[in-house]
Amino acid sequence: MKMYIDSAVVSEVKEAAAWGIISGVTTNPSLAARAGQDYKSVLTEISALVSGPISAEVVGTTRGEMEKEGRELAKIADNIIVKIPMTSEGLAATAKLNNEGIDINMTLVFTLNQALLATASGASYVSPFLGRLDDIGNDGLGSLAEMVQGLGNYDLDVQVIAASIRGPRHASEAALIGADIATIPFKVLKQMMHHPLTDKGIASFLADWESLQAKLNKG
Ligand code: E4P
Repeated sequence: MKMYIDSAVVSEVKEAAAWGIISGVTTNPSLAARAGQDYKSVLTEISALVSGPISAEVVGTTRGEMEKEGRELAKIADNIIVKIPMTSEGLAATAKLNNEGIDINMTLVFTLNQALLATASGASYVSPFLGRLDDIGNDGLGSLAEMVQGLGNYDLDVQVIAASIRGPRHASEAALIGADIATIPFKVLKQMMHHPLTDKGIASFLADWESLQAKLNKG
């Protein structure tokens, strides 16, 4: 499973990219608002930091607005993917932009049916939101599993991005289910690399090494 960072904070993307684990980035208007900077400038900086796909989301609600915005966003860099929400207008805009050679990540996808429609309209990526389904008492991972299985029954040119990841368990379960990609917040990426036995092991290796040096220096 490839891992993307779900962030519009340039310093977070930079740090995660330096770990060598990031294959792409997803952003959205809420993440942009949290970052508090001009969206276009953020996307320009991020697309220079990570060579993989960078999802940039439209805010228009009609197909005409989405298409116009999508074309503008796609001009920012070669690796920009336009993120479009799952509505009938979004489907129409996806079909149009896909015909123009612009790759689309269809976002706010919660069911296999929505994923099938997104794929049929020409989306290259579909983003099921795990955490938001869990938040309303539904089964985010169950829904992801349905999408991976349902789309996987056919030879489709689409990748499933497990999104709205709330913790490390969501990421590992997404890998077990077979999601192509998981887009993961910075905080969760950091949680994923830690284990108390790793920390304990490093501390005991260092202590043993120091006691060996002390012994050698005495002799
Ligand atoms: C995906 O591309 C979205 O940016 C993101 O995962 C949404 O997650 P949230 O539910 O934590 O806002």
